[in-house]
Amino acid sequence: MTAPGKPKFYLTTPIYYANSRPHVGSAYTTIVCDVIARYKRMCGYDVAFVTGTDEHGVNIERAAEKLGISPAELVDRNQKLFRDLWELLGIHIPPQHFIRTTELRHVRAVQTLVRRTLERDRGREHSKRAIYKAKYEGRYCIYDNAYVSDTPEPADCPTCGRPAELVSEENYFFRLSAYQNQLLEHYKNVPDFVYPDFRFNEVKSFVEAGLRDISISRKSIKWGIPWPEDPQHVFYVWYDALTSYMTAIGFGEGHDGETNPEFKRFWPADIHAMGKEIIRFHAVYWPAFLIAAGLPLPKQIVAHGWLLFEQEKMSKSKGNVAYPEPIVKVLGNDALRYYLLRETVFGHDGNFSRDALITRYNADLANGLGNLASRTLTMVANYFQGVVPDCPLPDEAHEQNVVRRMESAIRAYEGFDFSQSLQEIWQVISLVDFLIVSKKPWALAQGEAERDQLSSVLYTACESLRIIAALSHAIIPDATQKIWEQLGHPGKLADVRIDQLQWGGLKPGTRIGKPEAVFPRIDKEEASERIEAMEQEIRNPSAAAPPASAGQGATAAAPAADSKIGIEDFAKVEMRVGIVKSAERIQGADKLLKVMVDIGTEVRQVLAGIAQYYTPEDLVGRKVVVVANLAPRKMRGLESNGMIVAASVGPEGKPVLATFTEDVPAGARLK
Ligand code: MSP
Repeated sequence: MTAPGKPKFYLTTPIYYANSRPHVGSAYTTIVCDVIARYKRMCGYDVAFVTGTDEHGVNIERAAEKLGISPAELVDRNQKLFRDLWELLGIHIPPQHFIRTTELRHVRAVQTLVRRTLERDRGREHSKRAIYKAKYEGRYCIYDNAYVSDTPEPADCPTCGRPAELVSEENYFFRLSAYQNQLLEHYKNVPDFVYPDFRFNEVKSFVEAGLRDISISRKSIKWGIPWPEDPQHVFYVWYDALTSYMTAIGFGEGHDGETNPEFKRFWPADIHAMGKEIIRFHAVYWPAFLIAAGLPLPKQIVAHGWLLFEQEKMSKSKGNVAYPEPIVKVLGNDALRYYLLRETVFGHDGNFSRDALITRYNADLANGLGNLASRTLTMVANYFQGVVPDCPLPDEAHEQNVVRRMESAIRAYEGFDFSQSLQEIWQVISLVDFLIVSKKPWALAQGEAERDQLSSVLYTACESLRIIAALSHAIIPDATQKIWEQLGHPGKLADVRIDQLQWGGLKPGTRIGKPEAVFPRIDKEEASERIEAMEQEIRNPSAAAPPASAGQGATAAAPAADSKIGIEDFAKVEMRVGIVKSAERIQGADKLLKVMVDIGTEVRQVLAGIAQYYTPEDLVGRKVVVVANLAPRKMRGLESNGMIVAASVGPEGKPVLATFTEDVPAGARLK
């Protein structure tokens, strides 16, 4: 897992509340972190990149209640939406680096952290202890998970404006007030502890004004990690959530929690990245919790602004959200990443607009980078039979300009100024466009006398393109990898050292690949309509045609009528021939049958919504089609492990089971 010899770099996203599905705002944090992780890897670091889901608390309890399911079911369902989205966005998180706060390893870590603190408290007089019990009464916003006031009088949350709830009970408190001086000292010693500066100033002022102790347990909530030796209390959100940054890399093993080699290598974190509204928890609470437990502090807290949609923070509860999946399906993964990093100046708020997204796609990606790549490579194919030519007449001014832009782009990456990095890189695109327009290779190709000039121009364009691809890879990984291959490089662009990039790395004589458009131009209106249709589908899945399944009552959104899936998408669905061994009605559920199906390797229990159309006797011995790799789901307290496929007929969606007229064995795969 670790790469000895390389310096380590540990980076985290916040863990996302698992009470709803991710939107473009949540994706922004993870995309930014993925860019940093990719960039650092290209600088030679061994990067651990952690994300996950925050699965405890009142919010989750309430959201589950509304849906009539258990909190465990809700978080199980929703965490998958996050995992799937990161995969869709090309952000591959190793399973152990996706942390769920309901995992046992995390329970162990939180309890270990508090035990360490309690042990250090032992023997200290009460007023010196980091953790103590006391009565709490105050107002708390359950939506933003923040104390709004420490008095019982009604108060509204300053962030979301909703009325805050009254909390009154005995809690465990953390003596945050005692850490004021140590925190201020730390801020002085580590001048870049919080990025950007103006946020650091806000943090300092907050701490200078004096800190109040905070409650870190609750008795009124059941859905949480039990306090060791006092399980009537569960940990309250932030102590639990923040500790996940250590759990994910192995904290919690051994008596002091520190025996895991990965933890020893990667802790402390190099960067905790997040949106601006949760800096305080990371730059004030978290360091204090760690000091109290005798653990090293993270090196830097990096905060971005909000993505605004119609002038307000994009958020599902306000209903002003855009979802990433439709954008990726219509414009591709790179388009969303490029737009978010180019349009919003990191650290500040930015506006999200579908219109601007598609405009940028066409202007910067299709007409800019995409067009440059295909023009250049097509000329090499046409004039040099697909082989990168020599450069007998180097254009020093151009080279120097490219190198200067390259250095600025790297400096901007180092300073989290991704928008600036992209501007620098796009300046290189303009330089090459200018070179091509002014030298007119198509005219030079007319005569033998200009051969040296022609080959020099095309070498220079190809080499510039190589540098452009490497520099922008962290932000637009898919297209740049394709360009890299089209330039004749077999390996992964991700393995190139961005900090060692130099002019002249492209070898004349390299055979280029087949030039193919990396960003096909797209009709704005049509793209916008397709995205809109898919978003509607996500917002209102019930409007979709009922699934033709007789299984889990799945409500997965069907792709919009005009969108196509690739064969690799279809291959993800494992459909097998099953033979029904037994079937029975389920008490209290007039639509469901419990069906035991032999799928060759095992007999599966599947709950099928067909009881109104098929009797158990109809089914026994029958051959059916089973989706065998569906995540298990509980209905009426029973687990369903798969889905039986049926056509959905007529306006009432009558299920008609798919079957075979020829002899097929149980377990045969449908392809
Ligand atoms: N669970 C806590 C974090 C605990 S970390 C130990 C939490 N979760 S969250 O789901 O509300 O937010 C997760 C991240 O998504 C935060 O960085 C937040 O800023 C980000 N965003 C959510 N909506 C956003 C926008 N509209 N714009 C930009 N980022 C936003 O807080």
